[in-house]
Amino acid sequence: MTAAFIRPDIAALRESPIREVARLGMGQDGVIPDVIPLWFGEPDQPTPDFINQAASRALAAGHTFYTLNRGIPELREALADYMTGLHGVAIAPERVSVTASAMNAIAVLMQSLVGPGDNAVLVVPLWPNIEGTVRIMEAEPRAVPLQEESGAWRLDLERLFAAIDARTRLILINSPNNPTGWLMEREQQRAVLDFCRQRGIWLIADEVYDRIVFDRPVAPSLLEIADPDDPVIRINSFSKSWAMTGWRLGWITAPESFAPVIEKMNEFNIASAATMAQHAGIVALAEGEAFIAETVARYGRARDLVYQRLGAMPRVQLVRPEAAFYAFFGVDGMPDSLAFAKEVLAECGVGLAPGCAFGPTGEGHLRLCFAASLERLSEAMDRLETKLS
Ligand SMILES: Cc1ncc(COP(=O)(O)O)c(C=O)c1O
Repeated sequence: MTAAFIRPDIAALRESPIREVARLGMGQDGVIPDVIPLWFGEPDQPTPDFINQAASRALAAGHTFYTLNRGIPELREALADYMTGLHGVAIAPERVSVTASAMNAIAVLMQSLVGPGDNAVLVVPLWPNIEGTVRIMEAEPRAVPLQEESGAWRLDLERLFAAIDARTRLILINSPNNPTGWLMEREQQRAVLDFCRQRGIWLIADEVYDRIVFDRPVAPSLLEIADPDDPVIRINSFSKSWAMTGWRLGWITAPESFAPVIEKMNEFNIASAATMAQHAGIVALAEGEAFIAETVARYGRARDLVYQRLGAMPRVQLVRPEAAFYAFFGVDGMPDSLAFAKEVLAECGVGLAPGCAFGPTGEGHLRLCFAASLERLSEAMDRLETKLS
């Protein structure tokens, strides 16, 4: 073991409890046979072939070199057109920067916006990696919890605004939300936007699940109400909507004046996103609508099955998810979600994510990713029945 120095705060970063459970259910060759893995958040299908073909064509055409730091102009233009069409507001390509995934976008933003003594206000429960990026910058992640009230998740704006002080640099809101499936409605978006305008605080909108929404065509986006120069940065990704988690491709939409920051920070982090992936991204945007519609319909059926079956189990409380592909449910008499998720894995052969991974308010809950076939999900429900009764 080497004795060389590692920053103590980096050494102290905790592995995600989701990984801790998953490691128990995985052998050298992947998931142990007979375990139904519903712990991670990713589509169950491989990337559709028309996107793979586009990457092959890009390789054959010699697109194997670095690109401009903020991505190839054709992709930035395609993204601007795509968002303009989807959201009904003009988005200029100058506002768009390509990143190597939403995770990379979040890390680059935290590097650019927070430092020691600053704080970032995060609405939780929240995907745990985001808090990690704040800690890495030696800034304070300040959690403001959603509340579970009469069958719905709600954000208390007074509580959110009370968490802001002179060292708050940003508010980050993930809607549609991982893990709860909560959607932030327009009225609240307007209120938070006004607050951020007045206080000169960044509002970061993580909208990576914007297309995975049920009972309405698209999730309300902050892009639809923000002016181009508002302090709003919107993050998105190819991972979830186009089943491209392994490609590591995402994008940021920000005021044009912010573009030089991303330009510089991309240079020092990744230079540019993978070139063949960027070319494939153009085709995903142009030809992906049928794939998205069919996948979301499938996830919708999965959501209904899980909501009915899990919701009927005596120890479970479950809010019907409005979007994304997760059921985040409370379990009566479960003081330690990590220990319980390990028991569920050992006794039922079902891999779930412990709620404690999603911030302090996540304890008492488990997350199940329902991006899986109805057969696998039915089998998982049969297996969970006794444990959750
Ligand atoms: C809320 C949220 N933001 C960002 C990401 C990261 O997506 P990407 O695959 O583009 O890094 C995830 C992935 O699970 C997520 O749940």
